[in-house]
Amino acid sequence: MKILILGSGGREYSIARAIKNEQVEHELFFQPGNGATNDLGTNLNIKDYNDLAKFAKENNIELTIVGPEAPLVDGVVDIFKAQGLTIFGPGKEAAQLEGSKVYMKNFLAKYNIPTAKYIESDSIEDLFQFTNTLDVPIVVKADGLCGGKGVIIAQSHDEAKKAISEMLSGKSFGDAGKKVIVEEFLDGYELSMFAVCDGKDYILLPAAQDHKRLLDGDEGPNTGGMGAYAPTPLVDDALYQKVRERIIRPTLDGMQKEGAPFEGVLFIGIMVVNGEPITLEFNVRFGDPECEILMPLMTSSVSDMFYKAATNRLSDIEVEFSKQYAVGVVMASENYPYSSSIPAEIILDDVKHEEIAKNTHISFAGVMKEDDKLYASGGRVLVCVGLGQSIKEARDRAYLRCGQVHFSGKKLRTDIAYQAL
Ligand code: AMP
Ligand code: GLY
Repeated sequence: MKILILGSGGREYSIARAIKNEQVEHELFFQPGNGATNDLGTNLNIKDYNDLAKFAKENNIELTIVGPEAPLVDGVVDIFKAQGLTIFGPGKEAAQLEGSKVYMKNFLAKYNIPTAKYIESDSIEDLFQFTNTLDVPIVVKADGLCGGKGVIIAQSHDEAKKAISEMLSGKSFGDAGKKVIVEEFLDGYELSMFAVCDGKDYILLPAAQDHKRLLDGDEGPNTGGMGAYAPTPLVDDALYQKVRERIIRPTLDGMQKEGAPFEGVLFIGIMVVNGEPITLEFNVRFGDPECEILMPLMTSSVSDMFYKAATNRLSDIEVEFSKQYAVGVVMASENYPYSSSIPAEIILDDVKHEEIAKNTHISFAGVMKEDDKLYASGGRVLVCVGLGQSIKEARDRAYLRCGQVHFSGKKLRTDIAYQAL
């Protein structure tokens, strides 16, 4: 197949890598891709979605896979479908499950899907009044997309009220904060689950755990994610079953009733409180770095899964997973997540040890290529992934691989998967 992948991160690289490892040969295109994806296919530079759809049509692209949320929320899927193209991802309306937290919370409430008690409003009086009824900590969220920064966990009522005021005034997040959610704090452990959906049916992937904070021991500022592992032993069959029955099934049925069947990746942020899964949030795409560890655990064809999902035929296929564990350690640039960093050359040692060569790989993200040299060009630079028969083995291998990657200012956590060990 000719496949186009939208995005430029490690997530998109890992999808491409999995597709390239299939028995059948595929030709890949990336919009825009990164400095390493052009080793797997062709990087494009076509920013306008109508022009991109035209390119896809003229070049007989048979499947387009959308990585990040922004193009989904902007309606790229609707534009491609209007041209009769096959594209994997939710349309603009269904993408509101991520694009608007108010839409998501009201949807969850309407279909009785477990979530934290909340109020959504644009009235400061109503929000303050509800805040007064809650114990601390109190969670305050801006409605729209804020690049992962729109959630404040306030340690006092005053702090919560300050956050509410600053969001409503547009000071913190502009229009994204015009509506605000205040909700109760849930105390438990967090999981990420991913369901590949075709509107009606879905495939549930192994549960993963992300590490959002920058520093070891979950200290420091929030990031996009500094590492992940899967499957996590914190989930047993009973919990999977609860997530299926209480969250995924009613979500797919509900979105059909709303006239916006959900096609794409439903990323469910879950807080497990006293053994019960509560929905924290939905995203409408794979997590990054979660995707980088889930892709190598898939033993059946990834491209076929996406193609069948995009053509509403998931029930036709069996998707198979490896019995192994995967651990991914993010290596970020010097100033991440505060500001950009000066490009630094990446030196990759030859991996001589057979066990490491066979059971680890790198998914490249914030990299650029110049004169055949690879540079860390900012943000999260790459993810070292280790596979193994246990989480410990996978993690040890991932860290051995990290030791063979060098660039000035490299930053990584040393405790990925600690919850499982
Ligand atoms: P969200 O963008 O909604 O996933 O929120 C970002 C992070 O804030 C989550 O990953 C949780 O760690 C935390 N969080 C969000 N909502 C709550 C809540 N109601 N209780 C506790 N923590 C929360
Ligand atoms: N790793 C979390 C996210 O992609 O949102």
